[in-house]
Order: sequence, then C-alpha cells, then structure tokens
Amino acid sequence: IGKKIEHYDQIESTQTLAIKRAQEGCDEGLVIIAEKQIAGRGRRARHWDSNHDKGVWLSLVLRPDIMPIQSPQLTLLTATVLLDVIEEITQLKPEVKWPNDILINGKKVAGILTQAQAEHDQVHYAVIGIGLNVNQEKSELTDPIKHSATSLQIETSKSYSKQLVIQTILNRFEEVYFNYLKDGFKSIKTKWLKSAYRLGERLEYSINGEVKSGVFIDLSDDGCLIIENDDRQQEKLYTAKIHWF
Ligand code: BTN
Repeated sequence: IGKKIEHYDQIESTQTLAIKRAQEGCDEGLVIIAEKQIAGRGRRARHWDSNHDKGVWLSLVLRPDIMPIQSPQLTLLTATVLLDVIEEITQLKPEVKWPNDILINGKKVAGILTQAQAEHDQVHYAVIGIGLNVNQEKSELTDPIKHSATSLQIETSKSYSKQLVIQTILNRFEEVYFNYLKDGFKSIKTKWLKSAYRLGERLEYSINGEVKSGVFIDLSDDGCLIIENDDRQQEKLYTAKIHWF
C-alpha cells in the first residue's frame, strides 16, 4: 500500500481520480493524495468540506479477493485503522459511529467512503476514501458542519504534520489489510465493537417511512447493525435512516 503515490496540490476529488485509475487497471495499493479538493464528496453524494489544506484527503485502490457482499468490511477495517492512528497520535480515544464516521467527544473528525465495483461475483476493485480533519481551528469550521465536526487540533490544541499522519495511516493500513486478507474479518469486528458509539443503547430508525426503535446489540459480518427491536426480534440494518439519541 502506497508504493505508488500520486500527490496533488489541488484536484476535484481524490476519490474520483482513484476510481478512474482503478478502471484503467492500476495496481493494488495506489494512493491518491490532495492538499485541497475542489469537489470533495461524502456518502450519499454529500459535499465534503476539503477545499483547504487543513486535513488529510486521500483515496486508495484495493483489489481484494473478496465477494461484493463483503465490501462493507473494508469500511469497518478502515475505521479500525483510523481509530488506532488517531489514538497513537493524540492519545485520545475516538469512537466509531456506524457506518463510517469517526468521532472524538461525540463530534465527527473523519469520514470513510468505500466504493467497490464487482465483476462475476468478485470485487474487481474497491476505492477507499479517507477524510480526516487535522489542523482546522474552531473558527474554520463552517455551516452545516460547524457544530457536529471537529479536528485533531481542536481536540488537543496542537497542530500535526500531515505527512506524519499520512505515513502512519498507510503503514497501519497495510498491516491491518494484509492481516484481514489472511485471517478474515473476526479480529476487525472485535476491535470495531470495542470502540462502537452507543453500543448497547437504544436508537430510533426508519425503514420505508416506518419509525421503530430498538437496542444496538451487535455488528454482522457483512457490516450491518444488528438491532433488537421492541418485540425482542433481531433486525439487520443495511442503510436505514438512524436517529442516534
Ligand atoms: C463521509 O463521511 O461521508 C465520507 C467522507 C469521505 C471524504 C474523503 S476525502 C478523500 C476522498 N475524496 C473524496 O472526494 N471523498 C473522500
């Protein structure tokens, strides 16, 4: 991972370019990094505030030998990498909020965007985008994320070398990823659950407009939340809209 790195000062989105490179047939492990993104994007086509150089914006191309149904595991894997890296760098204990947010003190410090392409029931490529807020000051966070987001600098009153943060992420990613390919998802799931936001607590969710509530009790191997609903039945949530209390 990261043997080949393309580093740009300014680009539309590292994710868009990494997908293009993957489609062109690049090797596994290519990393695209940008100082600034003009059109950074998050899940559900949301905007990702990255038109400045205060964060780490990168995407990596993987070609894992897994089935498409397993690709959410890559998001969870990446979350455990970020948990470790943030803890190592700041000594704080971040949490992971399903499916792809990393929080410090309840505020979002990083997001993960996994986009996979399948061919013949096999993942052809997966592009993992990581956005980590590093050196923003409080006044630099603008609406609509002003109150819900944070950065390493805001939480610790220190600034960080982005180069060091990137190197730490790539090293750790390499270790965890090859371990996952060899030994599977189990240890990642255990680690993920240890830092899971609101595990064991009640949450409200809506499926097809119907609002329900239940307790978040586990994570499934295909990356779903497992909820025990008020009728004591277990339900698997893929992309339900969730209201976290
Ligand atoms: C989310 O929380 O919705 C995911 C955010 C992912 C942002 C990163 S920044 C690097 C890469 N390029 C993008 O355009 N998005 C991802």
